Amino acid sequence: MTKKKSQASAPLAVVILAAGLGTRMRSDLPKVLHAVCGRPMVSYVVDAALTLAPERIVVVTAEGHDEVMALLPQGCERVVQMERLGTGDAVRRGMEPLAGFGGNVMVLIGDAPLVDGAFVRRLMEHHAASHAVATITTVCMDAPGAYGRVVRDAEGDVLRIVEAEDASDAERAICEINVGLYMFDAEALRETLPRLTPSSASGEFYLTGVVSLLLEVGLTVTAFKADDPEMCMGVNSRVELAIANAAMRHRLLTRLMLAGVTVEDPDSTYVDWGVEVGRDTVLRPQTFLLGRTIVGAASEIGPSTYLEDVFVGDRARVVSSHLSACVVNSGCSVGPFAFIRPNTVLGEGAKAGAFVEIKNSRVGEGSKVPHLSYIGDAFVGNDTNIGAGNITANFDGFDKHPTYIGSDVRTGSDTTFVAPVNIGDGAFTAAGSVITKDVPAGGLGVARSRQENVDGYAKRREQRRRKEAKDGC
Ligand code: UD1
Ligand code: CA
Repeated sequence: MTKKKSQASAPLAVVILAAGLGTRMRSDLPKVLHAVCGRPMVSYVVDAALTLAPERIVVVTAEGHDEVMALLPQGCERVVQMERLGTGDAVRRGMEPLAGFGGNVMVLIGDAPLVDGAFVRRLMEHHAASHAVATITTVCMDAPGAYGRVVRDAEGDVLRIVEAEDASDAERAICEINVGLYMFDAEALRETLPRLTPSSASGEFYLTGVVSLLLEVGLTVTAFKADDPEMCMGVNSRVELAIANAAMRHRLLTRLMLAGVTVEDPDSTYVDWGVEVGRDTVLRPQTFLLGRTIVGAASEIGPSTYLEDVFVGDRARVVSSHLSACVVNSGCSVGPFAFIRPNTVLGEGAKAGAFVEIKNSRVGEGSKVPHLSYIGDAFVGNDTNIGAGNITANFDGFDKHPTYIGSDVRTGSDTTFVAPVNIGDGAFTAAGSVITKDVPAGGLGVARSRQENVDGYAKRREQRRRKEAKDGC
């Protein structure tokens, strides 16, 4: 067994364990792909590793979990753990491509998504300063639950890690737990892994067993004791997934608030990882900013608003509305109760008002669709006003067709545009028209039957009513 000491300058490799099946998640999806704030858990762990600029990153995945590989950045290596034989076996697989590697190996677990770069750096620095061959990460938890317990001797030195299911009552009462993040001297780890024996309880090879084996041969193992239990949590169930999501969400919201965004009610505001919001923007209660959503400065979003993959410019207002995969340029007003669907672009200063649905359309600068309309597959020019209750009838039962409405157009209430149809610049449509033919620029399209009034109708009706009452009908 080597007595080689770790060095601060030693090369670093990171092994990320991500082959768990997520049995406790009761899911068909690999556990590490479950999302925290819209992003697979394992991506956070890979990010933390990348901040250390290690020489190698090896991710251990299960057979068939190709989706995990697909989201790893270039340069990450993948090894497959054919059988789920425990964390010790997973690290043994992870060390295979590192056969000739000399230096330090950091082991991270793919189900600890709240760990960040600063945290793993502290672990690395602690290890370098300790001159131990292994450093475990520990933290005290109020409810240590199913975590492995850290058993120390009278002097406070680490003796071993015992899994909760194998622990005695006294050991289970220990609040200091094994976080599951480690630093090892590569050679010491490589020499020790084959000596692991399977747990009598589960038949798995526990990585935690390496600690006792190293101590047995007189090598030093230290503990990096963290003080942030939230950062250290592992996600094994949907309950813990919800807790991790809430923690990450508050972290992201705090970052936004510190950057100048007003979040009126952080408890009811949901943001995904990667969402950007400009300064002086106000997020009102019950607002969801999901996916690749970007909101500019001095805008107002919410209350009760859902944006997924949406770009919103500056000084825009979106109230009680549902928007996805669309662009709302600066100065726009949307809602309340608008439904803006994919491939819609609202030009600067445009309006999509109450009970308005727009999909795959462009509404030009300063144009307004204020009330109760459906606009689909349409191109609307600038400074046009669409009257209340307009419909683009874009589907003939077989194909979708476009509607072109020019600039400075005024459409009457309850106009239906039977596409394909073209309304020229500056044109008008009469209220209640079903427009089936193009309207030339500057013209008026009237497409409804003329009104006829029947004089004296009310009087004749009353006479008939009285007669029938008298006759006993
Ligand atoms: C593990 C630790 C426990 C610690 C806890 C911290 C062991 C034996 N126990 O328990 O001491 O308190 O993490 O969260 O290490 N994995 C594989 N292949 C396997 C088994 C697991 O890649 O064969 C991966 C999983 O995807 C997961 C990680 O290793 O990312 C941890 O495995 P998990 O089964 O969740 O271990 P815990 O029971 O949580
Ligand atoms: Ca776990």
